[in-house]
Amino acid sequence: MSTSFDASQVKAVLAERGALVEGYLSHCLDAVPTQPRLKEAMNYSLLAGGKRLRPVLCLSTASLFGLKAENVLPFAAALEMIHTYSLIHDDLPAMDDDDLRRGRPSCHKAFDEATAILAGDALLTDAFGFMAETGKSLPPDRVLRALAAVASAAGAAGMVGGQVLDMECTGRTDVPLPTLRTLHALKTGAMFRVACTSGGLLAGAPEEGIEALHAYGEALGVTFQIVDDILDETADTATLGKPAGSDAAMGKTTYPSLLGLEQSRELAREYAEKAAACLAAFPGPDADFLRGLALMLVTRTK
Ligand code: IPE
Ligand code: IPE
Ligand code: MG
Ligand code: MG
Ligand code: MG
Repeated sequence: MSTSFDASQVKAVLAERGALVEGYLSHCLDAVPTQPRLKEAMNYSLLAGGKRLRPVLCLSTASLFGLKAENVLPFAAALEMIHTYSLIHDDLPAMDDDDLRRGRPSCHKAFDEATAILAGDALLTDAFGFMAETGKSLPPDRVLRALAAVASAAGAAGMVGGQVLDMECTGRTDVPLPTLRTLHALKTGAMFRVACTSGGLLAGAPEEGIEALHAYGEALGVTFQIVDDILDETADTATLGKPAGSDAAMGKTTYPSLLGLEQSRELAREYAEKAAACLAAFPGPDADFLRGLALMLVTRTK
């Protein structure tokens, strides 16, 4: 699948939309009345950087169907809040037990475990308030459908279900490839998928459009997690901003542990090509960006 956007153009759009998200996130909790330490912990993790891919996907898929960023930003920011909560909980001693995240001590290290758990809870819950916010400027039926899709993708049938499967597979040496595929599709694919479909849903895209975004987002998510697994083995901690080698230390089943690095890279490329092909029928710079992004994620270094 070819794309008319080269890597530098993809990076430029990513930076521009990422900056919009960053700007919104930097003040989004200001008006939430709560205990200072809780807000500090929420902002500590939320404003520690991060690639902001999920909100950028939401903005970009909405733009693909003609909706401006300003109408989507609270919804897009909510996806980042949910993602950040998932990272805070993923790093807890009861889960991956990782002390570094986004280049600084993990939330439970900078604060304490209880605060980290509660900061995650609050980010998840408040995210739904931000999503509902978009109902003030967009048709409520669209917002409701997008919000329900996020609930399903983040919850037991999606990301949390995937994290449970991940924990069940930790320390086992007999995890078959189809189980790993399901695990990836749930723990990472579900949020990528809904980041894409929610943009389309908010924009009132036709059903064929939503289906294409669904397929694109799912393949993109799997690409992303395969590369995350590869980087865990091949990159260094300083570049990643999280502990390299964590998967092997925890006894995680990953694509590289099952297939080796070379075949994993091959597979990541296949999924990225598949993702890009899902948007082959769409003209314009947003589709070019989304196709280019899929291919770029294969060679990302962090
Ligand atoms: C990390 O996600 C968790 C996975 C799903 C692999 P990201 O690599 O998008 O993390 P940030 O948001 O850039 O820190
Ligand atoms: C986590 O996958 C996916 C989430 C839902 C947070 P990983 O455990 O591989 O993510 P990292 O490597 O810690 O970012
Ligand atoms: Mg994990
Ligand atoms: Mg982890
Ligand atoms: Mg990982």
